Parts: sequence; C-alpha cells; structure tokens
Amino acid sequence: MTATQIIIDCDPGIDDAIALLAAFVSPEFDILAITAVSGNQPVEQTVRNALQICELGGRADIPVYTGSHRPLVREAIRGQFHGNTGLGNTCLPAPIAEPEENGAVEYLVDRLGEARRTGELVTLCCLGPMTNLAMALCIDPKIADGIKRIVMMGGAYREPGNRTMTTEYNMLTDPHAAHVVFSSGIPIVALPLDATHQVILTPDHVKKFEAASGRISASVADLMAFWDRNQVERYGSRGGPLHDPLVIAWLLAPRLFKTKRARIFIEHESELCMGQTVADWYGSSGLAPNAEIVTQVDAAGVIDLFLDRFSRYNPDIAA
Ligand code: RIB
Ligand code: CA
Repeated sequence: MTATQIIIDCDPGIDDAIALLAAFVSPEFDILAITAVSGNQPVEQTVRNALQICELGGRADIPVYTGSHRPLVREAIRGQFHGNTGLGNTCLPAPIAEPEENGAVEYLVDRLGEARRTGELVTLCCLGPMTNLAMALCIDPKIADGIKRIVMMGGAYREPGNRTMTTEYNMLTDPHAAHVVFSSGIPIVALPLDATHQVILTPDHVKKFEAASGRISASVADLMAFWDRNQVERYGSRGGPLHDPLVIAWLLAPRLFKTKRARIFIEHESELCMGQTVADWYGSSGLAPNAEIVTQVDAAGVIDLFLDRFSRYNPDIAA
C-alpha cells in the first residue's frame, strides 16, 4: 500500500488534537508536515499545542511550521470550548522540539511546488481557518497543480452555523481565505457541520477511548472529557461533535460517508451572513461543482475506526 502524502493545516484545538493523534498511528498516511495557523488560539499557542501533541503521540519527527498570525482581512476570533490553552485542562510537558525556521506559507509554496514538478501530488487536510493555504495560493497559484485534493472541516449547509446564525467557525474566522481556496479549482471534500453534528463523542465513548488508548489514555480522557458541550437540546445527547477528526476518518474510510457534488460559494461581504457557505446543489449558478459535500456519516463506524486507531497507542494490543 502506498501511503498518502498529507499536510495537516490546523489550529489545535481539542478536536484538531484528536484528529492528529488518530493520523499519527495510521500507516495509510505519510505526514509530510503540520502547519499551524491563528484560529482557536493565537498562532504561537497553536504551534505550541501542535508540538505538544506530536510529542504526546510519539511523532516528534513531523516538522511543525508557524503559519499566519491573523486572517487575511478580518480581525481574529478565537474558538470556544477549547479552554484557555486550546487543549482544555490537559497538562502536557512543554514541547522539546521547536517549530521550523521558515514559515508555513513559505513551506507550502515550496513543497507544493515540488509536488507539482514531480507529479507526486499532496493531500491537504485543513482543520482550521484556511489562511495559510490561501496565502500560498496568492503567492504562487501554480501550486494548485501540486495538490491532489483538499479535505477540509468547515461550513454549514442545511445546519445553522455554530458561531453565527449562518456560519461555522473556520469559515467565519477567515471567509476571504475560504473564498480564495474554493475559487481555486482544486478538488475539495467538505466536512461541514451537517456531517460533524452526526458524530457526537459522548461520555460513554470517552470511557472507551480512555480504556483503549494505552500510554496516552490519561491525556485522551482529559482532552475528550473537556469537549463535552452538555447541550443535549442541540446535539441530542451529552458530548461534543467530532469536527476535525472526520477529515482523517474520510481519508481512512470514505465508505463511511455519503457525499453530494455542488458548487460552493463563500459569502465574504454581508456582515449578517459573513462566511456562510452557500451550495448550488442543482446547477442554477451555471458553474461546475467545486466540491463533494459530506451529507451522511456512519457515526458508529467512525467511532469504531477511531477506537481501533487509538488502541494502537496500547503496546499490549497488536496493531
Ligand atoms: O467549527 C468547528 C471548527 O472550529 C473546528 O475546526 C474546531 O477546531 C473549531 O475551532
Ligand atoms: Ca480546528
């Protein structure tokens, strides 16, 4: 099996951290790098969090790059539900590794340019505001030909937003970046709230992950327990939506997902609907679809997949 070369662009963030920990133990991936961005936390904190999660997961070999300190145009807004550090009340040792010298945008331009030249295309996993990728595309649009596909968490179509009435956090934070990326012509798989709200990590699930996760079980339990929204009327149960991890789950097991092709537009002018992701499901715009939008998820299948992956942190359980 040839491993899929991926770059994970993220703003850890508890759900970003869960996604990273699952990716670290999945041999299907050749993780080229992690690029951190301003989002849930300032980029200095998201870089630190990424370094800490790499060391927790035994993957200090993965280079971590510092990305944009702010969205392209709008002022930064911070994530909710991630606690003061972005990793809940999880206490991890200060990271030993440092971020790479050059910045994330420079790395993306260089590495995706190389992929374009060699033809070994890279998959971009976007788990936060899309500022880094948008900036790289603005600097060198040709790097789009070095990207196999973008698998991104963000947007809301038939679901209401989770930060405004219409808009999901990653899109609201940097709608202009999302507009650049969705206008790029790069193949996109979108995991919106319509999908992520189908997979709620409940307290019972957390107990199972704690039991399965071997040497990282205490941190996993802390991370996942903090993610409980306790908003039963919104999510139908205790727990929190597995937003970013669904990006990794789609790449590992697309059979667990149903998608619909559509042209996606990003509202980046209206204050009322800023960042709203608008889908042209039936071609009324006359423009070709630019994305596969995930509409249905086998939630139990995703939980089982992640339990299998997290059990790989338990040396007593053969991989
Ligand atoms: O709306 C969910 C997204 O915003 C996820 O990426 C999560 O990390 C939050 O910050
Ligand atoms: Ca995120």
